[in-house]
Amino acid sequence: MMRRFTAETLSAAEAYALLVGIVVPRPIAWITTMDAAGAVNAAPFSCYTFVCNRPPMLAVNIGRRDGALKDTAANIESSGEFVVNVVTEAALTPMHASSAAYPPGVSEVAALGLEVLPSARVAPPRLACSPIAMECRLERMLELGEQKSGLLIGEVLEFQVEEALLEQGRRIAVDRFLPVARLGGPHYATLGHILTQPKVGEAGPTEQR
Ligand SMILES: Cc1cc2nc3c(=O)[nH]c(=O)nc-3n(C[C@H](O)[C@H](O)[C@H](O)COP(=O)(O)O)c2cc1C
Repeated sequence: MMRRFTAETLSAAEAYALLVGIVVPRPIAWITTMDAAGAVNAAPFSCYTFVCNRPPMLAVNIGRRDGALKDTAANIESSGEFVVNVVTEAALTPMHASSAAYPPGVSEVAALGLEVLPSARVAPPRLACSPIAMECRLERMLELGEQKSGLLIGEVLEFQVEEALLEQGRRIAVDRFLPVARLGGPHYATLGHILTQPKVGEAGPTEQR
């Protein structure tokens, strides 16, 4: 028996509760930005994916807080730059803590004692605890829906990848990269059993039958 939820009858919170439970597991973009005074902001966003290969582009959805832009969105809007740092199991606790609503101008990086390293192409630094970081320039910012949810599209200018996570030069080794994913509510997941399929077009189980 299927239960129907007609979208027009759902409040923003009800739709959110369904979406964050359904669209799982979500990778986490731990975004560093810089405000005009040079304070480094860090916050996690899991409504995130890549949307173009050449040039490479990422899209992140940043909702509003009491109708106002969150610090990350405000910094990206004014500076046009941000860094997406990946989250591994080792960084779960500080990443989660960095999602607290710190007042504008207060650096999560300083408050949580996170070590940062200079980026190559953008002003905001990357997080030393992230083995992969993507330095981005804002491509465009759209406002969606009644609550003016921000869809930020960033062009990746530079990929910074820890050498040990690479295989065959430019591929990420699936068994060595251990990202944390967001599930609904307060739940997170690590990669479980990895399932491998032959490339479509190569002889696979169906074609062999
Ligand atoms: C794992 C995780 C994922 C999150 N994903 C999002 C998201 O996709 N969009 C969003 O607006 N807020 C998301 N949040 C909440 C923000 O991190 C939170 O509002 C934070 O305070 C924003 O910080 P800022 O004001 O410094 O930008 C997430 C929180 C956590 C812990």
